[in-house]
Amino acid sequence: MTRIRTRVAIVGAGPAGLFLSHLLDAAGIESIVFDSRTREEIESTIRAGILEQGTVEVLSQSGASDRVLTDGHRHDGIELRFAGAGHRIDFPAHVGRSVWLYPQHEVLKDLIAARLAAGQDIRFGTTIARVEGVDSELPRVFAADADGAPLEVDADFVVGADGSRSVVRAAVTGSSTGGYFREYPFAWFGILCEAPPSADELIYSNSENGFALISQRSETVQRMYFQCDPEADPNALSEAEIWDTLQARVPGTTLKEGPIFQRDVLRFRSFVAHELQRGRAALVGDAAHTVPPTGAKGMNLAIADVLVLNRALQALLLRGDEQPLHAYADIASQRIWKAQHFSWWMTSMLHVAPDASDFDRRRQLGELRSVVESEAGKTYLAEAYTGWPLAVGL
Ligand code: PHB
Repeated sequence: MTRIRTRVAIVGAGPAGLFLSHLLDAAGIESIVFDSRTREEIESTIRAGILEQGTVEVLSQSGASDRVLTDGHRHDGIELRFAGAGHRIDFPAHVGRSVWLYPQHEVLKDLIAARLAAGQDIRFGTTIARVEGVDSELPRVFAADADGAPLEVDADFVVGADGSRSVVRAAVTGSSTGGYFREYPFAWFGILCEAPPSADELIYSNSENGFALISQRSETVQRMYFQCDPEADPNALSEAEIWDTLQARVPGTTLKEGPIFQRDVLRFRSFVAHELQRGRAALVGDAAHTVPPTGAKGMNLAIADVLVLNRALQALLLRGDEQPLHAYADIASQRIWKAQHFSWWMTSMLHVAPDASDFDRRRQLGELRSVVESEAGKTYLAEAYTGWPLAVGL
């Protein structure tokens, strides 16, 4: 058995955990990052790709990742499509801000490379079993290293950045599932295909047959999704059936088709843990909350959590001031619940529920029209999509 000591034990080498280790290091606070996955697994997991302007600013200004500015694509709007017509929401015109299309695994490649170059201790392949003693001044993480040998980590603070199936969550909330929860009666069928872009900007399309999102990855690779049954088998449809489904869901546009080389089904849920902090442990990112992907908020929320926790940990570990830590949950929750509302709203406005009545369907078109025909409606959408001001900066 190996026992090690660190100031901050960060469980999870996703965007939240890696970005936090970067900010702590800049403040002179040592940490170790643990993840059960290998570096290759982390860098190749396909995730959504929209970064709020504030996320881009803090990632680049902190020196964590500035490739987004050269390799990412600035998007100044999205199209909401319904009843056969497209309606552009112009972000700069309404809120003077934009978003960047830059997939999460590219952010992860940048963060991992930057952290390793700076000498950060990252333990890939380390499985966390449990966390104990968060009410003491020296919580302990029980783990197994990449060879399966037991590892115990004593730390001044433990951060759960370990995703929606968080192990740290149990030590903070008292149960691994404890939280506010909502499930949706649909999922997304996602594809990656080799084709040129079908549009310059993302298309969020509501159709009689259900929702579709036309997103992009590059000049030659596109990402698209369509609403499906949560139990759908990603391999059950032929490529022709997938294209027929997608084409029928963006009436008025013809998508450019090409070979499909990846398919997956994404479950939809909304979740916020009952507690975000307890004693010497806190949750950030998906460990603290999950949002449905329609609002493109997941990774942006994680970065916002980390900024608030970073400030709190600096106060605690550099000055012995516990006050900012006690405020962490309240400050982070305000943005989390705004994002929960926005993600739920975009989801319910754009998808067709399996039990939707004729009334529901017509009401939904009325709702969409009341957004795109109103300066106030478009401004709310643009403000939320590009991201509210960050409560705590770098
Ligand atoms: C994506 O490109 O994967 C993507 C974009 C916007 C979303 C969700 C996913 O809302």
